[in-house]
This record gives sequence, C-alpha cells and structure tokens, in this order.
Amino acid sequence: MSILVTGGTGFIGSHTAIELLEKGEEIVIVDNLCNSKIEMCDKIKEISGKDFKFYKVDLLDRENLEKVFKENDITEVIHFAGLKAVGESCEKPIEYYHNNITGTLVLVDLMRKYKCKNIVFSSSATVYGKPKELPIKEDFPLSTTNPYGTTKLMIEQILTDIHKSDDEWNVIILRYFNPIGAHESGEIGENPNGIPNNIMPYINYVAADKLDHLNVFGNDYDTPDGTGVRDYIHVVDLALGHLKAIDKIRKMNGQVEIYNLGTGQGYSVLELVQNFEKANGIKIKYEIAERRPGDIAACYADPSKAKNELGWVATRNLEQMCRDSWRYTEKNLK
Ligand code: NAD
Ligand code: WQD
Repeated sequence: MSILVTGGTGFIGSHTAIELLEKGEEIVIVDNLCNSKIEMCDKIKEISGKDFKFYKVDLLDRENLEKVFKENDITEVIHFAGLKAVGESCEKPIEYYHNNITGTLVLVDLMRKYKCKNIVFSSSATVYGKPKELPIKEDFPLSTTNPYGTTKLMIEQILTDIHKSDDEWNVIILRYFNPIGAHESGEIGENPNGIPNNIMPYINYVAADKLDHLNVFGNDYDTPDGTGVRDYIHVVDLALGHLKAIDKIRKMNGQVEIYNLGTGQGYSVLELVQNFEKANGIKIKYEIAERRPGDIAACYADPSKAKNELGWVATRNLEQMCRDSWRYTEKNLK
C-alpha cells in the first residue's frame, strides 16, 4: 500500500515526501521534472534515510501513468503536480489549462479504474480573490483573476463533482497561503528559474547580491504600514498538514473537505524584510515601487477548521522561515 505523490520532486512535494517517509509511509513519486531536478530524489532519500520508487512520467501520458497504478498498490494520492506561475499563466493559458486540468483528469480517471478514491489536492488562497473580510474562512466566496487561479478553482469543482457522482470518493482540498522557508538541513528548498516573482526568493537573491534591491510593490495599501500583508507559512509546517490530511482521509466515509493551511497571522512586506534582516544579520536594500497589477492589500487565513478537524497548527515563526530560507539559498545558489 503506497501513497502516490504527484509533483513530489517540487518545492512542497519534496518536503512532504520527507515527512511521509520519516513517518514510515510507503510512497511513490511521479514527476515529469519540468520544474524540478532528478537529484531531488537522492536528497529526499538522504534526509529521510528511506527509499521510494520514482517515475519520470508526465500526467498527460496516460499509458505510462497507468503503469504506476499497475505496478503499485496506490491507496491515496497527494496531487501537487501542476504549473504554478501566475504571470506565465496569463501568457500561456492553453498550456496551463492543458497541463493542470487535463493532467488531473487523466489522473482521476486512472484512480477510478484502479479503485483508489482518496485524493488530497493542492489548492491555493488565490481562489478567494479579493476577500470581503479577514481572516479568510473556507466558506468565503470564490473568484480568480488569472488562468493559474482558475485551474485551481476548476479542479476543486471537478473533484467535488466526482464525489457527487460516486460517494465512495474522499476529497481533501488544501488551500495553501504563502509557503516559504526550507528544510532545516539546508539541503532542499525553493529554486525558481530566472528572476524570482515571489517575494521570499527575491529577498534571498538580494541577500546573495544576485539582485541589487527589492522593489516593494506599493506602500499605499490600506494596511498598517501601507505594504501588502500575507500569511507566510513554513513549508515544513505545510508538509505536516498533508500528513494530517492523510490521517483524516483514511477515516473519511465519502466526503469532500476543504482546509485553509496558513498560520492565521499576516505580515507586511516591510515586516518580512525586517524579520529576514534580524534572522540572518544581512541588510536588505529596498525601494518603494508601483503596485503590482492583480495584487490585493491583505490576505490571511482563519486556520481554525484545520486545527479542530485535522489537529494541525503551524508552529514555525517568521524568523525561522527567513533563517531556513537563507540557509538553503546560501548553500545552493551559485
Ligand atoms: P513546484 O513547481 O516546485 O512543484 C510542482 C511539481 O510538479 C514540479 O516538480 C513539476 O516538475 C511537476 N509537474 C508539473 N506538471 C506536471 C505534469 N504534467 N506531470 C508531472 N509532473 C508535473 O511547485 P510547488 O510550489 O511545490 O507547488 C506544488 C503545488 O502547490 C502546485 O499545484 C501549486 O499550484 C500549489 N501551490 C503552490 C503555492 C506556492 O506558493 N508554492 C501556493 C499555493 C498552491
Ligand atoms: C507577496 C507580497 C507583493 C515580490 C503568489 C500567488 C499565489 C500563491 C502564492 C500559488 C505581495 C509583495 C512581491 C516583490 C513585493 N501561489 N512583493 N516585491 O502574490 O501573495 O501570492 O504566491 O498558488 O497564488 O499569487 O505572493 O510572494 O508574489 O507576494 O513587494 O518583488 O510581496 O506585492 O504583497 P502572492 P508573492
């Protein structure tokens, strides 16, 4: 009996794979390596001290994906695989819809065929659009502003409809807030291609002198210091949320459940910069710039449903996230 982890060599998938292995779970990883590297498999094995099967397979390649189900007794799937860059999704909507939606459809069709009806899906706080109030609860209205976000919303709907058609399916939708940080070993972390879009990798590049300064996108938002507020969550806390979701799905009896995975605490861009400086003793040069189109002022979770029903809370603070992020970058950025 194994858990299939799609996208398991990626940023969040690799951290989750380690925690699953360390807990004693058997896992199988499927990834096409479009945004990760094969070396990640050795790192996961080294850190966890455990072995697992890896298949370099694209979810769109039904024939080879079917082999994974034939050769293994898959009992649950954690579905991370997908393209995730908001800006790129506006330039390449066809690629994003095809990869994320069709990839999921191929996966769930094979799950049905092989009678594995338990899926944990990586969704995002982006599905809340501009929230009507804060903190954000799971039953808030949903809307999206870019193809990436729309793929998340559509997959949530697809999984919900599958459950409606066959109530043997158990679906857990996890809406992540802003994952940052890295494994405390410093061996694995976030490694974006090109100039980073997200703030934490960008700050790390400035700290490493790869970029001159951080552009702070707007200081006139309706927030305490005028800069954008987000719910940053340590990737290891996020990974541990998936272990709780697996525990939960094994006890479920034909349900769809949605959980916010965040800390519940919002920090501004300037607070994040201050925490990074304090944690690592490095000054981060920044300049105030124009607002970034599509950004919202503030976004943070009400994570109480995950606490009450999964027994999960995030325990790592912002300074720790900054320290772990930099440890990884310092070791790995050439
Ligand atoms: P990532 O890009 O590091 O990992 C995704 C992995 O999926 C990569 O290793 C990539 O090679 C693989 N992949 C993509 N398409 C595939 C396909 N068709 N077949 C097989 N493998 C494929 O991203 P991540 O940050 O680890 O995110 C994991 C999931 O969480 C994604 O679904 C993402 O949308 C979601 N999410 C991420 C964030 C974030 O800020 N990182 C926030 C909310 C939700
Ligand atoms: C955070 C804050 C920016 C860069 C994105 C996706 C979301 C989810 C997580 C996948 C904002 C500010 C940023 C910079 C800045 N991903 N910023 N200068 O936009 O909250 O969320 O990643 O699901 O869908 O949209 O994250 O890290 O880009 O920005 O001032 O160079 O930092 O304005 O306030 P975001 P982010």
